[in-house]
Amino acid sequence: MTAQAGICAEPNLHAHYLMFNILSEQYAKVTHALAQVPALWQELTQTYPDANFSGLVAIGNAAWDSLYPSARPAELTAFPAQKQGQRVAPETPFDLFFQLRADRLDIAYIAQQKVMALLAKLVELKDERQGFRYLEMRDMTGFVDGTENPQGDERAQVALVQEGPFADGSYVHVQNYKHKMARWEKLAIKAQEDIYGRTKPDNIEYASADKAPTAHTKRTSLKDDAGNSMEILRQSMPWGTANAQGLVFISCCNTPTHFERMLSNMFVPDEQGHFDHLTLFTQAETGAAFFAPSQEWLSTKGA
Ligand code: HEM
Repeated sequence: MTAQAGICAEPNLHAHYLMFNILSEQYAKVTHALAQVPALWQELTQTYPDANFSGLVAIGNAAWDSLYPSARPAELTAFPAQKQGQRVAPETPFDLFFQLRADRLDIAYIAQQKVMALLAKLVELKDERQGFRYLEMRDMTGFVDGTENPQGDERAQVALVQEGPFADGSYVHVQNYKHKMARWEKLAIKAQEDIYGRTKPDNIEYASADKAPTAHTKRTSLKDDAGNSMEILRQSMPWGTANAQGLVFISCCNTPTHFERMLSNMFVPDEQGHFDHLTLFTQAETGAAFFAPSQEWLSTKGA
């Protein structure tokens, strides 16, 4: 099986993100259209070899059974919404998610237009966002994002289902975060660094003993009961408009459990009342769970 390139791709300069819901009674046609997506990814990659294009389509939890009634990824479930007073991570389900990335904005745009043409009259566009590389791969809070991501072969091991009918597919979670920038910028640099557990200008990790129990990197570094690291591959990118900015957070993993545990650890206070203080400075506006099947799954199931 062949994974869609966007799951494990190295970071790019530009991205277009599209969220769709499928119009009623159009499911069979959408399944058929999705069968043509791997050929579209190939066409774009071959036509513009300098653009490092990578495509990804992922199918929403609620839409899966209508699109592919014959079989379902074993662990595909709804997005694990969080609510702790004002700190919330809502569930906003979508049927289809497209991540269209390239090092040329024009090619990402062409990809977007081709996806729109492929799905014309079958879907409703519910959300669109443009991501871009900010400085040295920094998030809009000014910190380098992605440093501790799996590297090399480990990316595929973490992100892709390893065996069975859904091999080379990936469980994908997407959240759009809008930062509370005015509030964040009032913090001293040291206070910002304590919130991540890393330094800001040179991106050096704090020693474990120096990390606050509320630090983002502390609360998202988890081990399972056997002592193994629970990892995800983050494919997030910043977005920004004239008066708002944030992060399109994207997690790809061979199981949804790692993301679910991390998100809960960020929001739900532990026995000492500690939670991830990053959640005080950014607001999740969307949250949806998907599965991104292999190219062969897409092209044969709808043919
Ligand atoms: C680490 C930013 C949300 C999981 C980091 C780092 C930054 C960052 C700057 C440190 C550098 C790095 O290793 O990448 C953000 C921002 C977020 C966000 C701005 C939202 C606005 C999330 C969410 C999760 C998550 C929702 C998972 C549920 C992780 C993990 C690490 C990390 C696993 C690596 C921890 C380590 O091993 O040191 N994040 N993050 N992040 N983040 Fe986030």
